[in-house]
Amino acid sequence: ALISLRQMLDHAAEFSYGVPAFNVNNLEQMRAIMLAADKTDSPVIVQASAGARKYAGAPFLRHLILAAVEEFPHIPVVMHQDHGTSLAVCQRSIQLGFSSVMMDGSLGEDGKTPMDYAYNVEVTRRVVEIAHACGVSVEGELGCLGSLETGEAGEEDGIGADCKLSHDQMLTDPEEAAQFVRETQVDALAIACGTSHGAYKFSRPPTDDILAIDRIKAIHERIPDTHLVMHGSSSVPQDWLEVINEYGGAIPETYGVPVAQIQQGIKYGVRKVNIDTDLRLASTGAIRRYLAKHPAEFDPRKYLQESVKAMADICIARYEAFGCAGQG
Ligand code: G3H
Ligand code: 13P
Ligand code: NA
Ligand code: ZN
Repeated sequence: ALISLRQMLDHAAEFSYGVPAFNVNNLEQMRAIMLAADKTDSPVIVQASAGARKYAGAPFLRHLILAAVEEFPHIPVVMHQDHGTSLAVCQRSIQLGFSSVMMDGSLGEDGKTPMDYAYNVEVTRRVVEIAHACGVSVEGELGCLGSLETGEAGEEDGIGADCKLSHDQMLTDPEEAAQFVRETQVDALAIACGTSHGAYKFSRPPTDDILAIDRIKAIHERIPDTHLVMHGSSSVPQDWLEVINEYGGAIPETYGVPVAQIQQGIKYGVRKVNIDTDLRLASTGAIRRYLAKHPAEFDPRKYLQESVKAMADICIARYEAFGCAGQG
């Protein structure tokens, strides 16, 4: 059944687990997520970005998610809009039937200038007003995602700052977070704690203290009823990088967020863990390997099935690691 983010994360908070939120762009990702959730008895958050809407079209995405709900009626599903950039975008998603929207006002009105607090509060507050009237949850964002190692905002278009970030900008301030929540009434808050979007988070193997766990803890203590969201949470599996590069790919050395660090975050209040890149890597690796090993094969279902399997394995591992398995 389709439920709101607030409903799902209230349960996660009560039982101290985190829910991975996987990005979805196509049928194969949707099937992988649902097969994994079914197998591990996990609740599901699927999220659609602006890029996903551009690729698949909003109606296809909507019906893909609704089809998942129809095929797996026993699994609770949140249909979430990832990184909404304006009130109008969020309004459209609410009309389409999304049960949760993210209003990302962290990069200002032009989408690339961080730290316009007044704009962020105002636009997020207006989204909350409309969304809550419709029973839809809202995720806001305060602070700017950036790798504490590199000071870079990350790779994805449209959702990263255009400039180098200072260390201060890359960590959400607990006091400001409390004020933001008071002023906007968001259900969930994406915070900056050392993660960044995309595959290039860290250039060296990350240490066990690569994230600002103390900062997560301090924010959670100030706003215990607001569910914290960790964006940029892909772990960039080294085994899939090897497969990709063994079968014709050329991805440079790079590292993601260790699962153990995410588990620490969950211990201190992170309830929604955004993952996109890991499924992209698994899918690409599985397809490259299949096609290299079966050069005469041309039925897309053959290699896409490999992609589904590879992505489902990642989903299962995350459901289990985040304590989400058995909570569906
Ligand atoms: O937060 C970003 C997600 O990874 C979505 O990426 O805009 O390429 O769909 P995308
Ligand atoms: P990754 O790029 O680490 O998978 O993060 C995805 C994300 O935060 C989507 O909002
Ligand atoms: Na989101
Ligand atoms: Zn994100």
